[in-house]
Amino acid sequence: MSSAHRVLPLAPFASLDAYREAGGGRGLTAARAVESEVLIDELDASGLRGRGGAGFPTGTKWRTVFSYASAVLRTSVVVNAAEGEPGTFKDRSIIRNNPYAVLEGALIAARVVGAGSVTIATKARFTEEVARLRGAIDEIRAAGWTGDVGFDIVEGPGEYLYGEETALLEVLDGRPPFPRIAPPWRRGVVEVVAGDDDMDSGSGLPADVQMATADDGDNLAPPVLVNNVETFANVANIIANGAAWFRSVGTTESPGTILCTVTGAVSRPGVFEVVMGTPLRDLLALATSDAENEGGARSLSAVLMGVSNAILTSAELDTPISYEAFAAQGGGLGSASFIVVDDSTDPVAVAAGASRFLAVESCGQCTPCKQDGLEISSLLQKLASGQADQSHLRRIDERLLRITDGARCSLASQHQVVIGSIRTRFAAQFEARVQPGRDPVDPVLIAEVTAIDGQTTSVDPTFVDKQPDWTYGPHDSGLAPVERLTDHRAQD
Ligand SMILES: Cc1cc2nc3c(=O)[nH]c(=O)nc-3n(C[C@H](O)[C@H](O)[C@H](O)COP(=O)(O)O)c2cc1C
Ligand code: SF4
Repeated sequence: MSSAHRVLPLAPFASLDAYREAGGGRGLTAARAVESEVLIDELDASGLRGRGGAGFPTGTKWRTVFSYASAVLRTSVVVNAAEGEPGTFKDRSIIRNNPYAVLEGALIAARVVGAGSVTIATKARFTEEVARLRGAIDEIRAAGWTGDVGFDIVEGPGEYLYGEETALLEVLDGRPPFPRIAPPWRRGVVEVVAGDDDMDSGSGLPADVQMATADDGDNLAPPVLVNNVETFANVANIIANGAAWFRSVGTTESPGTILCTVTGAVSRPGVFEVVMGTPLRDLLALATSDAENEGGARSLSAVLMGVSNAILTSAELDTPISYEAFAAQGGGLGSASFIVVDDSTDPVAVAAGASRFLAVESCGQCTPCKQDGLEISSLLQKLASGQADQSHLRRIDERLLRITDGARCSLASQHQVVIGSIRTRFAAQFEARVQPGRDPVDPVLIAEVTAIDGQTTSVDPTFVDKQPDWTYGPHDSGLAPVERLTDHRAQD
């Protein structure tokens, strides 16, 4: 089996001209010739599902945003380019190799929802991607593609939560990346809420976002359409080539291709575009040397799905890569991050690393998510160090049960599911860790991927110093990020 190349070209497009020579730009031309409803119907028919993690149907989202347009202000389009899921590098690969498809998809979206602006929300530390995007925007502007649509790049913070859609909108509104309680695509970039003078007071508190409605005369706020980088890149192809073309590969419920990042215990880590429905085993073979494949020498024990979904064991490698097949296994595809774990790594060390990442990145708006999360993390660390007994195992299980209480975003349930799945599937290894005389093992560093170069995957080395209060250094203040970064006087 070989990779597909619908979104990720064989070689990077060096210029807009090169993109056009390969057929780029036809989607935008086609989009400008028809009504929004026609384009939304085509997206619906394609069955495209958002590639940011949840797999939400893109056509449904666009239809909703279109129907909630404000009579007063124009809708905004936001590209979620905040990629921070551990083990994922696919959005940065698209931007480096094919930024034009992302911009074209976003312009088609702007055409559909009547947006006057496209904001690309990325991270300040993604300097290579920011430069590539700026160059590509200059090119499409010079080529007359943008019309009256303005482009803006926001270089946001490094926090994992920044990628969560409502936290991302908070950042665009000038506040820290704390998730909102709200449906995600109603309000965001432009805050116009009657009688909410206090809201934009620079308090640092997440906005009290309410549902925008189509017929509420007082409601001036326009909706915002947020999609992932890979989602937008697919849109350009679908509008250029049609829904039937998109569906010509993949499965009925998961049509098209998907970009998968494979890292961990493999000899050829990388980003691979494969047809949906490809068995996981075949994807992993792409990231493994021929000698390993032929000799069957791999000692793979599990595949960690970033920090969002249940871990898979070596017995599940025939699972097709599709939303429905992963759901049927009791897991999820997420952003197609596959961190391979081999027999030489203790699953407890993997759990300790994943738990630390989620506990540190939790913002603390919901007490169980932060406090129970931190306790689970420290209990797992104790277990890894060989100093735990049965009572510690029981406490991990108890905390996992209640960590999601009152959670306003998915991070808490990710913690529950990821650690719970490792605990269940590797129960014997957890039990073994509480037997006397165990050698200590170091937690695996689970953090954002910073580079994949040949045989080497680099993971953010600064994360080892990141404290639960989101400072870097030897001491933690003991405050949750929401306490440390929020001006409490604003609440009085
Ligand atoms: C903790 C957390 C982190 C997330 N990080 C990202 C991210 O880095 N990039 C992204 O596109 N979506 C991320 N998401 C998903 C977004 O909230 C949202 O579903 C996505 O931007 C929607 O785009 P799509 O419909 O095209 O998938 C994250 C979600 C959660 C809960
Ligand atoms: S669930 Fe966790 S990360 Fe999400 S808002 Fe609550 S405290 Fe923050």
